[in-house]
Amino acid sequence: MTVKEKEFPQAKPIFEPRMGKIVAAAMLTEKEKYFRVVLEGGKPLGHKPGQFVEVSIFGAGEAPISISSSPTKEDSFEMCVRNVGSVTNLMHKLEAGAPLALRGPYGNGFDMAAMQGKDVLFVAGGLGIVPARGVIKYILDKRRDFGKVTILYGAKNPSELLFKEDISEWAARPDCAFHITVDRPDDSWKGNRGVITTLFKRVKVEASNTYAVVIGPPVMYKYAILEALSVGIPESHILCSLERRMKCGVGKCGHCQVGNVYVCKDGPVFSYAQIKRLKEGI
Ligand SMILES: Cc1cc2nc3c(=O)[nH]c(=O)nc-3n(C[C@H](O)[C@H](O)[C@H](O)COP(=O)(O)OP(=O)(O)OC[C@H]3O[C@@H](n4cnc5c(N)ncnc54)[C@H](O)[C@@H]3O)c2cc1C
Ligand code: FES
Repeated sequence: MTVKEKEFPQAKPIFEPRMGKIVAAAMLTEKEKYFRVVLEGGKPLGHKPGQFVEVSIFGAGEAPISISSSPTKEDSFEMCVRNVGSVTNLMHKLEAGAPLALRGPYGNGFDMAAMQGKDVLFVAGGLGIVPARGVIKYILDKRRDFGKVTILYGAKNPSELLFKEDISEWAARPDCAFHITVDRPDDSWKGNRGVITTLFKRVKVEASNTYAVVIGPPVMYKYAILEALSVGIPESHILCSLERRMKCGVGKCGHCQVGNVYVCKDGPVFSYAQIKRLKEGI
């Protein structure tokens, strides 16, 4: 034990990054890049679906990024990053073979045990498919532990659709229902046109036995939650992953605080029943 550890036995290096290596990288769209990362020593990340990591770029800072793969795949984990600013721009320059520093996994993630045996309805809009994919893959890998699986996915236009291979697989699987829509189709688009809530009319849910996993841009939540409520899904079974500006990711800096809740630590996953209480507390 070092002198420092003797003096401060409770001190844990919470801001110390873990090292990993990018083993695959590819542009999925003009703005989004996919990464597969292996941690030093081949250690599993040890995450729960719905958690995130803080990716460090030396000299630029850190960015919270959702884990897009399932913990059932232990040898590596996956992310998808939209290029919007300084950290994400430098991340886009990274290719397979580059080292990567990160902290985490952080956040509460989804309570997969609570969802066992239940039907699960995914409502994923835009970049929301990134965290949703980790939950979907977990459930499909443990298919017999869950009831009916329905996936609704929406994007602004066909060129913004992410994870096309997964989309084809989910659409072909007999044990899950997959519906897709775009707001602004091009000439080649043969599918549904309109916002994601237009897909609800295609879905039959046994409301009391269903969890809805709703992840998307802020504008989507209000309407998707209203649809989920209107088909009778209980407020405590509507689960949303919230994105707030974050810095530390571990409940220390207060950047993500809403009332007495730290979204990074107590969330990012909250039920609609909890979100209603949060809004009342603001
Ligand atoms: C829990 C969580 C999970 C996330 N998962 C992903 C993911 O899987 N993939 C992904 O691409 N992005 C994700 N984000 C958003 C991502 O963290 C931000 O886009 C990133 O931090 C921007 O950093 P930057 O240095 O590149 O941009 P900056 O140079 O800091 O900012 C560029 C622009 O982005 C805006 N911005 C910065 N942070 C956020 C934010 N948190 N939300 C909205 N706008 C922001 C700024 O206002 C500015 O307009 C997630 C955010 C959170 C909180
Ligand atoms: S990001 Fe620092 S407290 Fe949540």
